[in-house]
Amino acid sequence: MRLKGSFAPPGDKSISHRAGLFSLLARGRMRVSNYSPCQDCSSTLGAVKLLGGEVRFSEDGVWLTGAQGRLRAGASVDCGNSGTTLRLLMGLLAGVPGSFVLDGDESLRRRPMERVATPLRLMGARVECPGGRPPVSLFGGGLRGIDYTLPVASAQLKSALLLAGVQAGGNTFVGEPVKSRDHSERLLALCGANIRQEPGGWRIERSELTLPEELRVPGDASSAAFFLCAAAITPGSDVTSEGTLLNPTRIGFLRVLERMGANLAIEEQGRVPEEWGQVRAAYSPELKACQVRAEEIPLLVDEVPILALVATQARGTTVMKEVGELRVKESDRLAAVASGLGAMGADISIEGEDLVINGPTPLKAPAGELDSFGDHRIAMTLTLAGVLCGQELAIKDAGCAAVSYPGFGHDLGLLLQ
Ligand code: S3P
Repeated sequence: MRLKGSFAPPGDKSISHRAGLFSLLARGRMRVSNYSPCQDCSSTLGAVKLLGGEVRFSEDGVWLTGAQGRLRAGASVDCGNSGTTLRLLMGLLAGVPGSFVLDGDESLRRRPMERVATPLRLMGARVECPGGRPPVSLFGGGLRGIDYTLPVASAQLKSALLLAGVQAGGNTFVGEPVKSRDHSERLLALCGANIRQEPGGWRIERSELTLPEELRVPGDASSAAFFLCAAAITPGSDVTSEGTLLNPTRIGFLRVLERMGANLAIEEQGRVPEEWGQVRAAYSPELKACQVRAEEIPLLVDEVPILALVATQARGTTVMKEVGELRVKESDRLAAVASGLGAMGADISIEGEDLVINGPTPLKAPAGELDSFGDHRIAMTLTLAGVLCGQELAIKDAGCAAVSYPGFGHDLGLLLQ
């Protein structure tokens, strides 16, 4: 089996979430084209409608009408599997008078929310989340700005505080010891927020937001990563991802593939609303192991599972430093990737907070079923491990790929030869 040809990944999930959610605070009307069709981003649009936003679907995109912060108090929002929806809404609703409840599925109910609740309380919101997990109850309004440095490099936490900050009296400084994806900062600026970068973080003042008339969402870099990484390790492969987001805070995985010696060609083709272009990856027989530094992790946080698969085929020891945050993603992704690839013959271990992989090792289909743990990125990683060993694997709940990439099976069928 090999992967050949071109594909267009779905619209970027992170940018789509932000487009939907920001419309709750802003004025104006925006056409979003290439909005992500994934389940998580549908959860966001469901939340927007429930909270009083206006969402209309047409052939040329999703039309969002700004609700200017006049939201339906008392709403109880189901965020499904989507941590981004829930955490960003915590910050956004903290500034809106009234009470709100945010909840989600079984996986989301296991994820930590205290990290968002703590600074929001410092800003004056009342936030209750028993055990630090959803459901989260919020009693918002009357926020004051604070200076706060993030204890974890999380774009979701940073974005929640910026969304609270844009509604708070005075101004808010969000210190960011390690850089993470900056879509919120960019879209807030595009909507007219008074936001600026200062040494070590971002300062935002209370501002009125106005939606841009048009927003074209580039293709999701994290979805593209699956086929690009798989092509680098699968003999005879050569794939091109079209219209792909190339924001530098999202393509840490391409930097790592380059260091490993992968056969890559990256061509930027536009910069609006963010850098995007074409990425081609071909089979690279001489991959070498590499060190992935702790400060690089936020730039590739969602690509750790698929990069771990790549590392099983690279010569030497790959170490991904300080990836402990993966324990609290949609599943315990460290345990899930180590057990899945381990069952296929990979030499992979978790050492403290680091993921360590020795390669190259041939992978083979295990006797029994592999578990995705209901985690979309694990399901896609294991599916592509199957392509590498030339077999369709039995993967429990493989359909959960739709959480971020509903067309994954279709695009795989298109590329597979
Ligand atoms: C996201 C941030 C990351 C990432 C998630 C999407 C975002 O989470 O894992 O898939 O859109 O801001 P953390 O902020 O928790 O690292």
